[in-house]
Amino acid sequence: MSFLDNHKKLERNVTLLLVFSFLAVVIGGLIEIVPLFYLDSTIEKVKGMRPYTPLELKGRNIYIREGCYLCHSQMVRPFRDEVERYGHYSLAAESMYDHPFQWGSKRTGPDLARVGERYSNEWHVQHLIAPRSLVPESIMPGYGFLAKADLVTTDAEAHLLANRRVGVPYSDAMLANAEADIKAQADPDADTDDLEKRYPKLQLGDFDGDPNRLTEMDALVAYLQMLGTLVDFSAYDPKANQR
Ligand code: HEC
Repeated sequence: MSFLDNHKKLERNVTLLLVFSFLAVVIGGLIEIVPLFYLDSTIEKVKGMRPYTPLELKGRNIYIREGCYLCHSQMVRPFRDEVERYGHYSLAAESMYDHPFQWGSKRTGPDLARVGERYSNEWHVQHLIAPRSLVPESIMPGYGFLAKADLVTTDAEAHLLANRRVGVPYSDAMLANAEADIKAQADPDADTDDLEKRYPKLQLGDFDGDPNRLTEMDALVAYLQMLGTLVDFSAYDPKANQR
């Protein structure tokens, strides 16, 4: 009996077909899943990644609250056109501290994964208040109210703790200083030595153009300005073990 005859038997017997389909799925599943248990980590560690500062995390929460992800992605795919427009394709490690991740699913506006340091703080504030004053054809809504909304800082420690519970390595010192760190990062006159040690490469100063007030605009701009700035791609070698 040939192979095809055997297969005919399988196709005509529902029970046999189910048993063999089940076996095929089990074997395929095991091959995919088992190796993951033998890896130290499924995400390659990359130099430069650190947890968000409490101010950036606040901005990130506002980004999610306002639904920016509905129009903006945060993932540069490894295609030539994207890499030429936005920069190095995104690494898994770059969203390792994102809970939830902000890869997005639709680009009505451009990808924001590497928008940090591309524009000035003033540009971002003006653009968020009145997008069409800078980009006449823009269909992005204005978010001027963020500049008028005082930033709530009292729940900062709780936000860090929630992230720690899902695996972000916030230390006890980071938790204890969360609220003070928010204020220090956005205050041009603050003493920030410890803050800079806790969160290397952070950007300091007044973000929203009003140094006397800490607003939701400060937090959102601080977040936008750090996106994609942590990994130094001039020194990144995908083949090197970066641990
Ligand atoms: C209705 C869709 C929409 C929403 C919602 C939206 N944007 Fe945009 N965004 C756009 C479009 C379209 C552009 C391109 C035109 C422009 O620059 O205004 C843009 C541009 C931008 C840029 C400039 C990017 C670049 O590389 O030039 C930034 C930064 C930005 N948006 C941030 C945000 C943030 C932060 C939010 C949430 C508070 C947000 N956007 C919400 C549509 C949107």
